[in-house]
Amino acid sequence: MSRITLIVTVFTSILLFSCQQKQEENQEKDLTCCPVENHSYSNISEINTTHLHLDITVNFDKKVIEGVARHKMINNGTNSAIFDVKGLDIQKITLGPEGSEQETTFKIGTYNDLLGAPLFIDIDSTTQFVNIYYSTTQDADALDWLDARLTGSGKYPFLYTQGEAILTRSWIPIQDTPKNRFTYTANVKVPKDLLAVMSATNPVEKNANGEYSFQMKQPISSYLLALAVGELEYAKLSDNSGVYAEPYMIKQARDEFKDIPKMISAAQAMYGDYLWEIYDVLVLPYSFPYGGMENPRLTFATPTLIAGDGSLVSVVAHELAHSWSGNLVTNATWNDFWLNEGFTVYFENRIMESVYGKEIADMLALIEFQELQRSVDEMMATGNGKDTRLKLELHDRDPDDGMTDIAYVKGAFLLKTIENLVGREKFDDFLKNYFHNFQFETLTTEEFVAYLNKNLIEKYNVDFDVDEWVYGEGIPANCVQITSERFELVQQLAKSIQDGGKLPVGIKRSDKITQEWLAFIRAFDGKLSVEKMAEIDAQLHFRDSGNAEIMTEWFVLGIQNEYMEIRPEMEAFLIKVGRRKFLEPLYIELAKHSKESREWGKEVYEKARPHYHSISYKTIDKIFQETK
Ligand code: BES
Ligand code: ZN
Repeated sequence: MSRITLIVTVFTSILLFSCQQKQEENQEKDLTCCPVENHSYSNISEINTTHLHLDITVNFDKKVIEGVARHKMINNGTNSAIFDVKGLDIQKITLGPEGSEQETTFKIGTYNDLLGAPLFIDIDSTTQFVNIYYSTTQDADALDWLDARLTGSGKYPFLYTQGEAILTRSWIPIQDTPKNRFTYTANVKVPKDLLAVMSATNPVEKNANGEYSFQMKQPISSYLLALAVGELEYAKLSDNSGVYAEPYMIKQARDEFKDIPKMISAAQAMYGDYLWEIYDVLVLPYSFPYGGMENPRLTFATPTLIAGDGSLVSVVAHELAHSWSGNLVTNATWNDFWLNEGFTVYFENRIMESVYGKEIADMLALIEFQELQRSVDEMMATGNGKDTRLKLELHDRDPDDGMTDIAYVKGAFLLKTIENLVGREKFDDFLKNYFHNFQFETLTTEEFVAYLNKNLIEKYNVDFDVDEWVYGEGIPANCVQITSERFELVQQLAKSIQDGGKLPVGIKRSDKITQEWLAFIRAFDGKLSVEKMAEIDAQLHFRDSGNAEIMTEWFVLGIQNEYMEIRPEMEAFLIKVGRRKFLEPLYIELAKHSKESREWGKEVYEKARPHYHSISYKTIDKIFQETK
């Protein structure tokens, strides 16, 4: 993705290596068993949760969630159950169904910065019910507690969780590996003025006592457990879809996302029924560190998608697509992350093509391909060629390190390339069967490759080497090529401006889509005079466009060319928006461009940091540390 990802990767690896060493020393002392597979200490092959019932209270005064996690388990005869915990306060643990519980003993193993710690619980070989009474602490990475001033109305506080990849263990004691699937129910008590929603059946309005019940009937992986609490309203889009947002945003959100019903129909027509009944989107406050998160039945989304013209809805198509790729067929380990994200980027593009046409879809894919090429070049140049393989080796590394253009875009282009070779009809048939065959299961890369070879490559005698893509480095030579005339036009326009020409008279921002403007800005290759930038801003208003994608790209070019007039808008943007994808390139450029820009960037960061989620500020802290 970016330079810093690589720096951070190396840094984390060193850090983890030393943690691991410490842990190994300790393991000999007090841990009898804990193979760290799938970034989890849990012993799911011996005992695993099949249903979780949460009985919790959300306490905004103390900023903690407290209560009990009741695990119904299948026990293959073990007398020790191992869970993952990170920064949790475990009060007591009982065995047996609610009402006839017996307290038991437990031990918490050595703490690891990345993984947290194993929680060893003494059980009988016949134990089926394990109840963990706990409370979260200030160290809960998954929780973003927002003071009222950071919400739209400024009147009520807000809380949301982010589970993927391995953060659920910081708000629920759990076997935190995607490999285990379970159903869940929850009783959640919140302050009376607020509404609670989860990745489950949801209320559409507040009730008088602040007590809400939830049910998720389909088995999910732990990273998909999610909760949000705030001043929320609901607006319906169709019988099975709608949006939740803070009241000030609800109408805009409904308008922005009006095409969701069309997207659902398009997706179902291609790859089979939507099996989660309802598809809603929750627009979160600005600190949300991602564009979107595919929590089942309820996608969590950044408010930066609300651009006013529907131009950023491909993120919703992406999260919706995860209802098949990811939530239905799930990566078994974080090394197989591309099975979640690569398939989803491919599927997202198909939804976009179906709803908005091929020309738009191709532009989206081409912008992503440019980014992939840049990322691959950078990884190769910095000796990280191994990270350009689809099958990752994240042992002892943060799964976050795998969140690069490789899993997303190389993964998607593998599927596009195969589609192009065998033809769309056969490929769609294959994918539809794939989703159906493996629904509510988890899959490794190796299992997918075997399935693909058998059901497509060998079946139709196609000349295609899957292993080269999956286990090889870089972008294989047979990768399908995409072109776009509309991109070529904006690229030419950029060149002519760089050579002294002007923008066509009367051209407006709404004349072109977001991706065309991104391609336009990128075509300057980091070089454009301040005069030209001001001229473009006077006509197209990039710097105050309200479109976060365009603003980020424009601000980066602005830092590179010392276009100081953008600073007020850039500062306001950095203080308001917490989405890491935008913050990262801006702070990297500020930190490295000049001494002066670095100082300015640090000052702004000091003001902005309290507004960010830990996922974002941990990344930005590293940028300033690593580039000293
Ligand atoms: N599942 C991811 C978000 C994620 C990945 C969170 C790994 C934590 C760890 C989500 O579906 C996603 O990919 N979001 C993207 C948007 C998408 C259009 C590429 C994002 O947030 O930028
Ligand atoms: Zn995704």
